[in-house]
Order: sequence, then structure tokens, then C-alpha cells
Amino acid sequence: MRIAVPKETALGELRVALVPESCKKLIQAGYEISVESGAGEAAGFAGAAYRELGVALEPDPAVLLGSADLVLKVTAPAAGESGRDETGWMRPGTIYLGSLMPLRNLESVRALAARKVTAFSTDAIPRTTRAQAMDTLSSMASLGGYKGVLIAAVELNRYFPMLMTAAGMVFPAKVFVIGAGVAGLQAIATARRLGANVVATDVRPEVKEQIESVGAKYVGIELKDSAAGGGGYAKELSEEDRLRQSQLLAEECAKSDVVITTALIGGVFAPRLISVDTVKSMKPGSLIVDLGADGGGNCVLSKPGETVHVDGVTIMAPLNLPATMPFHASLLFSRNLTSFVQTFTKDKAFQLDFSDDIQQGALITHDGDVKHARTRDAMQKAGL
Ligand code: NAI
Repeated sequence: MRIAVPKETALGELRVALVPESCKKLIQAGYEISVESGAGEAAGFAGAAYRELGVALEPDPAVLLGSADLVLKVTAPAAGESGRDETGWMRPGTIYLGSLMPLRNLESVRALAARKVTAFSTDAIPRTTRAQAMDTLSSMASLGGYKGVLIAAVELNRYFPMLMTAAGMVFPAKVFVIGAGVAGLQAIATARRLGANVVATDVRPEVKEQIESVGAKYVGIELKDSAAGGGGYAKELSEEDRLRQSQLLAEECAKSDVVITTALIGGVFAPRLISVDTVKSMKPGSLIVDLGADGGGNCVLSKPGETVHVDGVTIMAPLNLPATMPFHASLLFSRNLTSFVQTFTKDKAFQLDFSDDIQQGALITHDGDVKHARTRDAMQKAGL
């Protein structure tokens, strides 16, 4: 069975789906692998490192994808950008595995279904213990939380740590982290390592202990209705809880030098938590890093991919931070995909088994149909 790894061509995307370390494992499992020439270079994986493992380097992406049984990608297949029609180049029956983000890429889903590609999206993999090693969302969120804090530390007009200097004492920065899932917990740990005073909040009750275990102080409201949405995800707050929470958030933001927001609902949408009034109540020189930008933003004033200044407060909404650390992002992404492929490899080939909860959760299209219910609903609403 032949695995193909095309070069990522989305703007600013420097990651590669499979690094040499993983190629070695998959070759041992019985696969032949072809990688598009130069695919790993931006992430620090030279062609020679693939070649010496017996991986074929293919300069023509149409040939690469046209001869593949299993296509591994970081992002959705390119659809026409720079003359690449990656879905069109795949043969019907080809399996695609990558971070398709189906709800944000409905056109790609439509094209994959029309081409009869069997598409698995790693961001739809259930958050279960068995699937943990395959969870690209978690690996990438951890990189995002780390980098988000570093960006804040560079941009902030003051130190993060407490310092005793000959010129006197400097007090630590106060960092407030909103949302303590994977990105948030890593943000807390990183800000703590830099010496900041960290306070964090979340709406899932089980998270309090996790926040404290990485060194932050927990703040939160007693919710009237549970916000646990199952599978480690939150659901939307009731109107009453939302109002009470917004008061708490406003108070904490006003006291903070840095606010890092990572709140996410149902694994897809960023709730709007920071209002214009809250921003206006913040100290001049303070900073918001809105990591929820790709899901619409946790701050109403965020402009995805941009930095804006409002009344002396800087609001940054960086996109795709994992791609700014392409070496480790690719390494972890590649290990996640490899774990998925290895789990379902039998007799040197990938076995489709839709009765398995991981395949069932991650399956987006098969045999011309959109199999993922939420994606199907979204497509119907969008008239696709
Ligand atoms: P997650 O689902 O693990 O964590 C989100 C957390 O937000 C959960 O713990 C949830 O309980 C909490 N939450 C939901 N509503 C809340 C509310 N009203 N108040 C406080 N907390 C609330 O998600 P993960 O994987 O940590 O991702 C977090 C965000 O970071 C996502 O929006 C993701 O897209 C983003 N991200 C952004 C990157 C970038 O480059 N901008 C890179 C990686 C992740």
C-alpha cells in the first residue's frame, strides 16, 4: 500500500505531515512511501533524510497523489491554489488522513465526497484514552498555548518574572488565562516558567485541580447549569451563568497585564467572552492574546491574524501558531498520524473498520457520502 505525503502549500504553512522518524515505522509496518520533493524542508527535514530510509521523492504532485492509496496531509487538500487540485488528483477510493477541519472547510468536504475519497479528519477523533496518541488537536493546541505566552512576553512592556535588581524590586506580571483545556494548561505552565503570577478560569468543574497542578490560582463562578458537554469539551453557558461569568472575567481582566484566551465550545467555536467594556477597563499597556481567533475569537475586538490597539490595550489574534514551530509541530503531528495508521494496519495494509469508535468519529466522507453528522448538517444549512 502506498502512502503519499504532499508538500503543504497553504499560506504560511511550514509543517509536513510525515517526518523521517515516522516513515521508518510505517515502512517497517509494510508501506511504501512517497513524499513530494522539498515537502519537509521548511520544517527542517531535508530530502536526504527521507531518501536514506528508502522513501521516494516525487517532484510532480499530480503523479504523487494519483498513485497513492493513503494520503497524509496537515491541512485540507489544496483546491486550485497555485494550480494544485489535490482532491481531483486522487483516485476514487483513496484514503485521506489529516486535519481537515470539516466544519470550517465545507467546500473541501464536498469535493472529497464528490471524488469518492474516504476522508478521516484527525480533529474529529474522539478525546478518549485510546485515541490520545492520535489527537492532533491536542498536540497543536499545546504548541499554541506555549507560543501564545511567548508572544505576549515579547510584546509586553514589562518583565514577566519578579526580579531583585540593584535598582530595586520589579514585581511579576499578572497573567490571566481563560479556558484551561490543552492550550490553556500549556499557557499557564509556560507563563509560570517565565515567573509570572498566573490566575486561570474554566467552566468545566474538573479543571480546577488541573489549573492548580500547573501552578496557577483558580477563579470561577459556581455554575447554575453544568457546562460539561462530554468528551472533555464544554457546552455553551446558560444566559444567567454567562452574565455572572462576564462580571468575573471583567474584574480579572482589569487586574491583569496579560490575558490569554483559549475558550472553546464543542471543540469548534470560540465563545465571545471579552466585551468592549472589559477591554476599556483594562490597564494601558496591557495585552490580550486571543488564541480562539481561528474559531471566531474570544474577544469581540479581535481581528483574526491581526493586532489591534484599543485605548492603550493591545489585542493580538495570531493564527496557526503551530506552523511557527514547524519542526516540533511536524514531529508531533506525524507521530499522531502514524499512531492512527499503525492502529488500523493489518497484513501490511490500512483496514477500514467503521465499527471502531475512532474511525467512526473521524470519518468525514466515504463512497460519495458525507458521513459526519455535524458536517452534513452544516453543509445542508450552507446549501451545499
Ligand atoms: P479545549 O477544548 O481543550 O479547551 C478549551 C477550554 O475552554 C475547555 O477547557 C472549556 O471548558 C473552556 N471553556 C469553554 N467555554 C468557556 C468559558 N465560557 N469560560 C472559560 N472557559 C471556557 O481546546 P484547546 O485544544 O485547548 O484549544 C483552545 C483554543 O486554542 C481553540 O480555539 C483552538 O482553536 C486554539 N488554538 C489556536 C492556535 C492558534 O495558533 N491561534 C493554535 C492551537 C490552538
